[in-house]
Amino acid sequence: MRLVILVLCVIVLFSYAGAYDPLDPNGNVTIKWDIVSWTPDGYVADVTLYNFQMFRHIMNPGWTLGWTWAKKEVIWSMIGAQTTEQGDCSKFKGNIPHCCKKIPTVVDLLPGVPYNQQFTNCCKGGVVAAWGQDPSQAISSFQISVGQAGTSNKTVKLPKNFTLLAPGPGYTCGRAKVVPSTTFLTPDKRRKTQALMTWNVTCTYSQFLARKNPACCLSLSSFYNETITPCPSCACGCQNKRNCVKSDSKILSMVGVHTPKKDNEPLMQCTHHMCPIRVHWHVKQNYKDYWRVKIAITNFNYRMNYSLWTLAIQHPNLNNVTQVFSFDYKPILPYASINDTGMFFGMKYFNDLLMEAGPTGNVQSEVLLQKDKDTFTFKQGWAFPRKVYFNGDECMLPPPDSYPFLPNSSPQTPSAFPALILSLIFFLVL
Ligand SMILES: *[C@@H]1O[C@H](CO)[C@@H](O)[C@H](O)[C@H]1NC(C)=O
Ligand SMILES: *[C@@H]1O[C@H](CO)[C@@H](O)[C@H](O)[C@H]1NC(C)=O
Ligand SMILES: *[C@@H]1O[C@H](CO)[C@@H](O)[C@H](O)[C@H]1NC(C)=O
Ligand SMILES: *[C@@H]1O[C@H](CO)[C@@H](O)[C@H](O)[C@H]1NC(C)=O
Ligand SMILES: *[C@@H]1O[C@H](CO)[C@@H](O)[C@H](O)[C@H]1NC(C)=O
Ligand SMILES: *[C@@H]1O[C@H](CO)[C@@H](O)[C@H](O)[C@H]1NC(C)=O
Ligand SMILES: *[C@@H]1O[C@H](CO)[C@@H](O)[C@H](O)[C@H]1NC(C)=O
Ligand SMILES: *[C@@H]1O[C@H](CO)[C@@H](O)[C@H](O)[C@H]1NC(C)=O
Repeated sequence: MRLVILVLCVIVLFSYAGAYDPLDPNGNVTIKWDIVSWTPDGYVADVTLYNFQMFRHIMNPGWTLGWTWAKKEVIWSMIGAQTTEQGDCSKFKGNIPHCCKKIPTVVDLLPGVPYNQQFTNCCKGGVVAAWGQDPSQAISSFQISVGQAGTSNKTVKLPKNFTLLAPGPGYTCGRAKVVPSTTFLTPDKRRKTQALMTWNVTCTYSQFLARKNPACCLSLSSFYNETITPCPSCACGCQNKRNCVKSDSKILSMVGVHTPKKDNEPLMQCTHHMCPIRVHWHVKQNYKDYWRVKIAITNFNYRMNYSLWTLAIQHPNLNNVTQVFSFDYKPILPYASINDTGMFFGMKYFNDLLMEAGPTGNVQSEVLLQKDKDTFTFKQGWAFPRKVYFNGDECMLPPPDSYPFLPNSSPQTPSAFPALILSLIFFLVL
C-alpha cells in the first residue's frame, strides 16, 4: 500500500511538474519567424507569437521574449516592439543598430504609439488573450530587421535558447525548427505569397515552474447544508502573512497604495488562506429537471486589476449547461469524447475586469444546468467541481471530507483517497 501511494505520488508529482495539462493537452505558445526579405547583410522577419492555450492568457505587464544569437547578429530596427537595452554598439559608425546584445530582450510597445511604429497585432503592452476566449486577440507580432546574419536559407543561423516570460516565469521553450514556409493571402485574396523561410519555437507552461504555491483556492456551499466549506488554511502559502493588511486598515485610503509594483509584488488582504483569488461555488437551487449554481470570484490583492480573466472548471454536468447569466461560457473539449470542462470569462465592458480587492473586487454569475438523469446526484459532493483554474493556474480545493453533505449521506470513501495523495504531495513539495 505504501509503495502504491509512493508510486502514485511520483506520477502525480511529475504530471504537475511537467508541462502537460490534462484540461488543455495541446496548450502552448508558438513563436513563428517568417523571413519576408533578404537584405545585403541579413534579413527582415515577421515574428508572430500565437497563444494556443485555451484558458491561460498573457496578462499585464505582458510578455518578454529573449533569445541568444547564433553568430554576431545585430538588430538594425524593429517595428511594433523594442528591445529593453541597446547594448554596446560602439563598433558602428553612421547607422547605429537598435540593439547589439548577444541576448536581446524584446517587449511589446504600449498602446497608442505613432502609426508608423505600429505593426499588425502589436502594441498591446504584451497582453495576449487565451485562444479559447478570443483567437483574434490571442496573437501578438512585430517585425525585426537583422544584420550581420546569413543572407540565404543556407547561411542563416537560427537563434537559440529562446526564453519567454509571460509575464513571470513558467514557460520552457524548445529549439527553433525550420518548418514549411508560411503562405500569405494578398488582401484581395487573389494571390498567395510565401515566406522565404520559416521557423517555429514552441513554449509550454508549467505551474510548478511558475510558482511554489497555488494562486487561488475554492470554497463551497449549498442550499441543503448550512456548512460553508472554506478554502484550506494557507492554501496559497502563509509566508507573506506578516505583510498582509486588514480590510479596514487605514493604509488602504493612502494615495498610491494600489499602484502596482514593478515586480508585481501583491498587497494582500489578510485571510486564513492567503490566496490572491478565491472562487466560490454555491449549489443554489434544485428544480425537477435543472439545478442552479452560483459562482463568485473574489480578488484579495489590492494591487491587481485582472483584465481578461478566465475561469476553467471541470464538472461532469458541464455537458448540459443551459444558461450562464452574467459570464460568457465556452465548452472546452480536451478529448473529443468528454465534454465535462468549460471556461467562463467576463462579458466585455461589463465584468471582464476583476477589480482590485475591496468592495468592488468580485464578479459573479449563476449557471443553470440540465440534470443528466443517469448521473445527477447531490450526494457525496458530486455537485462540486473536480478541477478549477483561474487564469490558467490550478486552484487548491478543500479536502473532500469537508464538503457540505446532503443530510444523512456519508462521505464517499474513494474520493478521500486523491485528497490523501494531494495532501501528501503538498507535504512533499512545500
Ligand atoms: C501547439 O498548439 C497547437 C494548437 O493547439 C497544436 O496544433 C500544435 O501541435 C502544438 N504544438 C506542439 C509542439 O505541441
Ligand atoms: C532554400 O531555398 C531553395 C531555393 O532557393 C529551396 O530549393 C530550398 O528548399 C530551400 N531550403 C530550405 C531549408 O528552405
Ligand atoms: C539562455 O538564456 C538565459 C536567459 O537569457 C541565460 O541566462 C542562459 O545563460 C542562456 N543559456 C545559453 C546556453 O546561452
Ligand atoms: C508553425 O507555427 C505555425 C503558427 O503557429 C503553425 O500554423 C504551423 O503549423 C507550425 N508548423 C509546424 C511544423 O509545427
Ligand atoms: C484598477 O482600475 C481602476 C479603474 O480603472 C483604477 O482606478 C485603479 O487604480 C486600478 N487599480 C490597479 C491596482 O491597477
Ligand atoms: C458540450 O456541451 C455544451 C453545453 O455545455 C454543448 O453546447 C455542446 O454541444 C457539447 N458538445 C459536445 C460535443 O457534446
Ligand atoms: C447531456 O449531454 C449529453 C452529452 O453532451 C447528452 O448525450 C445528453 O442527452 C444530455 N442530457 C440532457 C438531459 O440534455
Ligand atoms: C453538513 O456537512 C458537514 C460536512 O461538511 C457535515 O458534518 C454535517 O453533518 C452536514 N449537515 C447536515 C445537517 O447533514
